[in-house]
Amino acid sequence: MPAETLTIVDNRTGREYEVPIADGTIRATDLRQISAEEGDGGLMSYDPAYLNTSSCRSAITYIDGDAGILRYRGYPIEQVAEEASFLETAYLLLEGELPTAAQLAKWEADVRTHTYVHTNFTKFLDGFRYDAHPMGMLLGAIGALSTFYPDAKHIGDPESRYLQRVRLIAKMPTIAAFVFRHSRGLPYVYPNNDLGYIGNYVNMTFEIGGKHEPNPVLQRALEILLILHADHEQNCSTSAVRSVGSSHVDPFSAVSAGIAALYGPLHGGANEAVLTMLDEIGDVKNIPAFIESVKAGHGRLMGFGHRVYKSYDPRAKLIKKVADQVFEQTGLNPKLEIALELERIALEDEYFISRKLYPNVDFYSGLIYQAMGYPTDYFTVLFALGRLPGWIAQWEEMLNDPEQKISRPRQTYIGYDVRNFVPMNKR
Ligand code: CMC
Repeated sequence: MPAETLTIVDNRTGREYEVPIADGTIRATDLRQISAEEGDGGLMSYDPAYLNTSSCRSAITYIDGDAGILRYRGYPIEQVAEEASFLETAYLLLEGELPTAAQLAKWEADVRTHTYVHTNFTKFLDGFRYDAHPMGMLLGAIGALSTFYPDAKHIGDPESRYLQRVRLIAKMPTIAAFVFRHSRGLPYVYPNNDLGYIGNYVNMTFEIGGKHEPNPVLQRALEILLILHADHEQNCSTSAVRSVGSSHVDPFSAVSAGIAALYGPLHGGANEAVLTMLDEIGDVKNIPAFIESVKAGHGRLMGFGHRVYKSYDPRAKLIKKVADQVFEQTGLNPKLEIALELERIALEDEYFISRKLYPNVDFYSGLIYQAMGYPTDYFTVLFALGRLPGWIAQWEEMLNDPEQKISRPRQTYIGYDVRNFVPMNKR
């Protein structure tokens, strides 16, 4: 049996080192013993943007980017999306196993008990300008929850952690709906706990004059979209939640950091950017010129490409199916034609083929959200609503991992060597 080790020869010194390999990784700290001269601190690995660094051991989500595989706790995403409810998916991510009927009933009841927010919360939201971006409001609002629940700082107490977990999952739809209402200048609609998780959220969002006619097909479609977004291992926002949470701040603050990361157009903000892009293209006949401009380096084809997936994003495949069901109810989104043609042309183009750029989860989700009646700048709020269980599950896994410490990367200093301060009159 070959040894599970790596032998390194340092050509600067001729010395040889043997470091263990476990789970296909070497420990970066094992490199510290490799030093060229006394006091140089030893070798570090340099990995901007963490292209090849595993920052944790995780049992939550498995992705094989080449094969286009995504699994939650071992269950294929296709099966979870087909069979589970969103709260069942959240339970699976958080607890590690599918709930029994009794466990699910308790979990749903716990969440239902915490859907209300303090009435001061509406005053807080009223402070935002009428045209404030919904993601800016959401990240401020979720961060503000920590001031309503100072007990959330007891992060070492599993009971307290459970309570914050429930509060976050229960209040996020209420806050997301309030943010929507604020943008539209509509009065806030409070939770109706006779409705299910998704039904309640949709009702709080769209009810007018005490009335809202639920559409079960659209509600299930929204639920599937949230399930598809529920976790995606160490993406930018999840890494932000873990990193900020590693300082042992309360979970509301850590999750608001995740929302901030998700806001960016290279991450969750891409669903909004796709719609802006489709608007700019305007017509199928303009697609070839648009593709050429992307290839010439003027902007990116939003909703395409992924750090991990080097084949079709499995979530994008499922979303395309959902799109058919939604458009049957709402009528075709006129931008769908542009999106389909854009995808067809890009998938045949050498530039995209050679870089393994395929549609990702955000390419079609925005079209569906728009057909459901959500404005473009609100799309990423829906992504956040879906990603929340993943953020919390990853945060708790980080806290329970005895190997984790406060997140603190090293750097390679490339600035000046020491030099004397120059007084103002000598500069
Ligand atoms: N359009 C055109 N070219 C692209 C694109 C794109 N969407 N994505 C990557 N490239 C090119 C890039 O220019 C580079 O080319 P070259 O080797 O000639 O310099 C090559 O492909 C590799 O790109 P990269 O920037 O090194 O790849 P990355 O892994 O750092 O970036 C990404 C991943 C998702 C940020 C990127 O593909 C991108 O900006 N996509 C558009 C934004 C988007 O759709 N984001 C949503 C991601 S999925 C949901 C989520 O996780 O939030």
